Amino acid sequence: MASTGRIISEPPFRVGPTSRSLARAALAALHAPSILNTQPWHWHIDHDTASLRADRRRQLATIDPDGRLLTISCGAALHHARIALEADGVSVEVARLPWDDDPDLLAVLRHRGITQPTGHAQRMCQAIASRCTDRRPFAGVPVPEELLDRLRQAAEEAGARLHITRPQDLTSLAVAAGHAAAAQLADPDYRAELSDWARLDDSSGDGLPLDTIAPAGARPVPLRDFTGTGYGPSIYSGIDLDDRHARYAVVVTDADGPYEWLTAGEALSAVLLTATADGLATSTMSDLVEHVPARRLVRHMLGDVGHPAIGVRIGVPAPGEPPRTRRRPAVEMIEVVADPS
Ligand SMILES: Cc1cc2nc3c(=O)[nH]c(=O)nc-3n(C[C@H](O)[C@H](O)[C@H](O)COP(=O)(O)O)c2cc1C
Repeated sequence: MASTGRIISEPPFRVGPTSRSLARAALAALHAPSILNTQPWHWHIDHDTASLRADRRRQLATIDPDGRLLTISCGAALHHARIALEADGVSVEVARLPWDDDPDLLAVLRHRGITQPTGHAQRMCQAIASRCTDRRPFAGVPVPEELLDRLRQAAEEAGARLHITRPQDLTSLAVAAGHAAAAQLADPDYRAELSDWARLDDSSGDGLPLDTIAPAGARPVPLRDFTGTGYGPSIYSGIDLDDRHARYAVVVTDADGPYEWLTAGEALSAVLLTATADGLATSTMSDLVEHVPARRLVRHMLGDVGHPAIGVRIGVPAPGEPPRTRRRPAVEMIEVVADPS
């Protein structure tokens, strides 16, 4: 869109209150989870609109050839921004893809005035700052069922469904994760992509510092093996397992295209923030859906109804704080058009 304004990219933004509140929401969205912490999105704010675009330079060629996980990550950023606006008392209209002439444009938020912030939005907004992926084994305490119900409801309100796995599903999940790991780790391109993003040096503000990856150990469903060294036994080994009280869930959509991936990302964010606000810990699991045969197995576990978009592991956190990832500088991800003076 042609603009008479100048582009300025760094807070404090020399802009009016409308752009300012959209910029604050884009800043909150920097905290969103993303595949391998790639943060593959870009915001363009021009007066009363904030446009969210996919940053295809950050798409993972081997892990994510279709852009499914990139779009889910952008959906999580979109939901974070919507929550921040709601908590700020800003009403927005949201338009989502597709735009035929602009395939990387994923959503446009249009400022529609001021409302009363809800307590719910403010609670969720606080969770944006405190949420992080927790791959440590969870505490030896079951997750209260009523909290799982709230996660289901959060996913539904965001336009998707959350299937919480039953004990009889664990074998299917363990097999899917095992299949995915074996196939992916046998692929040198996959290993190279992993080591590009899971690394000691996180000075660029992206990728996974090695202290955030899962400690080795037997779990009911193995987590992604980021270093390719092998996490060893799983549910089959009959030995003592860590993480016995972890619950697993799958965000499910009715169809399987870019619109649904964006919605799945919004639902993922709704689930993660609700869990955080309720004192639960989470880690996302996309290895279950990246590898096509593993995705089929998970779909079969769902009774061949709907499309599994992404997995989530949920539990009561162990004592202490999980290590955290960093974020890219806002200046690389948010562009604000200054109001004409
Ligand atoms: C689409 C998507 C896929 C992800 N896949 C995995 C995964 O397979 N395994 C994992 O441990 N974490 C996964 N994550 C979590 C990211 O690694 C994490 O969000 C990112 O490193 C940022 O860290 P944070 O969540 O602590 O802010 C995924 C997140 C998203 C949004």
